[in-house]
Amino acid sequence: MRALDPDPLRSHFPALATTVGGRPAVFLDGPGGTQVPTAVIEAVAAYYRERNSNTGGAFLTSQRTDETIAAARSALADLLNAPTPDGVKFAANMTSHTFAFSRAVGATLAPGDEVVVTALDHEANVSPWAALAERGAVIRTVPVDVEDCTLDLATFDRLLGPRTKVVAVGYASNAVGTVNDVARICARARELGAISYVDAVHYAPHGAIDVQQVGCDALVCSPYKFFGPHLGVLWVRPDLLAGLPAYKVRPAEDRIELGTLNHEGLAGATAAVGYLEGIGRALLEPNAAGAGRRRRLEAAMAAIGAYEQRLVRRLLDGLDRIPGVRVYGVRDPARLHLRVPTVAITVAGHAPRTVAERLGAEGIFVWDGDFYAQQLIERLGLLATGGVVRLGLVHYNTAAEVDRTLGALTRIAAGS
Ligand SMILES: Cc1ncc(COP(=O)(O)O)c(C=O)c1O
Repeated sequence: MRALDPDPLRSHFPALATTVGGRPAVFLDGPGGTQVPTAVIEAVAAYYRERNSNTGGAFLTSQRTDETIAAARSALADLLNAPTPDGVKFAANMTSHTFAFSRAVGATLAPGDEVVVTALDHEANVSPWAALAERGAVIRTVPVDVEDCTLDLATFDRLLGPRTKVVAVGYASNAVGTVNDVARICARARELGAISYVDAVHYAPHGAIDVQQVGCDALVCSPYKFFGPHLGVLWVRPDLLAGLPAYKVRPAEDRIELGTLNHEGLAGATAAVGYLEGIGRALLEPNAAGAGRRRRLEAAMAAIGAYEQRLVRRLLDGLDRIPGVRVYGVRDPARLHLRVPTVAITVAGHAPRTVAERLGAEGIFVWDGDFYAQQLIERLGLLATGGVVRLGLVHYNTAAEVDRTLGALTRIAAGS
């Protein structure tokens, strides 16, 4: 299979033509939301032009809307390798999904039942579960090894017990990039009959997700983090959902999708999956004429992952050479498969916001702060000092952009 070449792919993203001070902008802000390809913009516009309606009507635009929703369910099922599209559910974002799901699960818990969360996760996969303490649930938190920002799995094993009913874990950290062994974690939950809930929001733009291989009961992601519109996607085992209480209006059929969906967003999400599929198609040709969408998506995500590994190695090597820059998370070149290319740094003597402002003024867009990964940033001792600067690479970033960022950081760190 051929390697990924970012240059032709960059032309799909009109936003990458943005300039600051006459120079092209460098978008390292992907963890907060990626840019979108033209196909997504067009799909959203085409929905409004040709399909705009509510569902279930006896006329053309309503039928087209029904098709739009079904197509999105099918595309997302392939992206997640869900056995059937019916477990794919849409909402405004991952946070809404998680609060709704935790409330439904919470109604099945008895006082003293235990819920396991982690100190590495985004709060969107912690707070909705921690709220179940009000119902008498006991919340247990898996600690983080602050040396390399990996989960302490030995303690995780010890935290589990006969009362464990839920294990909520992130696939990858949105602050420091750590990839967790979610298959192992979900297997342990399964042994105990506990529900496993995986937050794949940060992992989705970087690697293939396979809910069957992960062995989870539910998994969430957000298309706006993988080149699509602002939207949240939940995959849940249909038989699990059927057994949970439904908080819904009485006549509604769906147990978890509330009210009218973001139809134009769903059209865009299908196009985002189509964009990724197109990468796979081009890489597999000419010997994959019969490959289906899932196979093409797997090829795309494998090539994206391999490309990003080369890019993050270049970034980490360069950061190591800048006096005063400290990198958090996995840095060992032999263990880079344990991270996605999201790199958290601090620069001695410069607040994260100041560094982000200096970079922003040079046209390099990065986020600073805790990104709601609050427990991690607190444990790193950085909450009071503004958190970290996050350099978030995705496949449309280039080696030249990494080098330009390293140059800018070298000047900032040197105080010039
Ligand atoms: C890892 C992770 N989980 C959850 C969320 C929340 O996602 P949403 O904005 O779709 O609610 C984010 C958003 O940054 C995230 O990075």
